[in-house]
Amino acid sequence: MKGLILSGGKGSRLYPLTFTNAKQLIPVANKPVLFRVIECIRDAGIIDIGIVIGDTAPKIKQAVGTGDRWGVNITYIQQDQPLGLAHAVKVSQDFLGDDRFVMFLGDNVIEGGISPLIAEFADSNWNSQIVLTRIEHPEQYGVAELNDDGSIKQLIEKPKEPPSDLALVGIYMFDHHVFKAVQAIRPSWRGELEITDAIQWLVDNHYGVHPYIHEGWWIDTGRPNDMLEANDLVLEEIEYDVEGYVDRDSQVGRRVRVERGAEIINSVVRGPSIIGENARIVNSYIGPFTSIDHDVVVENSEVEHSMVLENSRIQDIGTRIQDSLIGRNSVITKSPIKPKALKLTLGDNSNIGIL
Ligand code: G1P
Repeated sequence: MKGLILSGGKGSRLYPLTFTNAKQLIPVANKPVLFRVIECIRDAGIIDIGIVIGDTAPKIKQAVGTGDRWGVNITYIQQDQPLGLAHAVKVSQDFLGDDRFVMFLGDNVIEGGISPLIAEFADSNWNSQIVLTRIEHPEQYGVAELNDDGSIKQLIEKPKEPPSDLALVGIYMFDHHVFKAVQAIRPSWRGELEITDAIQWLVDNHYGVHPYIHEGWWIDTGRPNDMLEANDLVLEEIEYDVEGYVDRDSQVGRRVRVERGAEIINSVVRGPSIIGENARIVNSYIGPFTSIDHDVVVENSEVEHSMVLENSRIQDIGTRIQDSLIGRNSVITKSPIKPKALKLTLGDNSNIGIL
């Protein structure tokens, strides 16, 4: 089998973080979501992985490279315009050939691996397998309605009145018949070739599409709150592991990972949390559910339930920073220069909450 990861899109709902970076490269618990997806596919025994890229191609290529870091072969497939998930399958036909494949959206995070699922599909004679999960707001996703015998009745993309609470997770498995489907369908109201419509075409034309219902958690990291939620869920799985330095005056909780070269000085770190490589936490408090990325400095400050991305600096802040997503190379410090006021240099579409 082959793997296909979709990693295009502008990530506009994550502005300003995605002005300078691809959304799939934003780290959850200090590891880019895209890297998690690659590992998930690799762990299922798949070596040949295509990554569909768009506007952010240079960033993705630079971060992922050839794939040897994971022991896989990466082939990049350029999609010139974001014309939909089914269009991405179309442009990948040369790479996929007649192989069965798993397609994974590069911004989806799912609990546990997918190895059993993929193995099941590889050995089956189904033409496709889809992954469904019960969620509260299915209208924001593709939605499936099943028959009493568990087979698929219909699939609808972002229905105003969802016929069920079963959303389509961004993991799909296909054989080569999907190419017939993507040729046959027409663009949707949003101008995209929807993978949901392609799967519906397979169902209508009596191909075998098997619905698998996933019971664990699943997050499509489209918006800042989704990122924080995904971060919480991944941090839940963290175990105590201190490779960095913790001085005697500090307290580090049971579910904290302190990566190589990190230093915790006279500080309290409560888990689940992760402190990245070469980060420095000095005279500070890091609360539960916080990811401090590599080379971040937190000094005389308190941070809880937040993500602080690489190379940022938080110093002498009297108010606890909470529920925050702080982009790379950000600086938050106390200014000694009068007047005593908030002095902000923010990217476009920034979002700040002040009490
Ligand atoms: C896409 C699919 C949708 C699926 C979702 C999963 O939505 O069209 O059916 O439920 O991914 O993340 P989009 O991200 O394009 O809104």
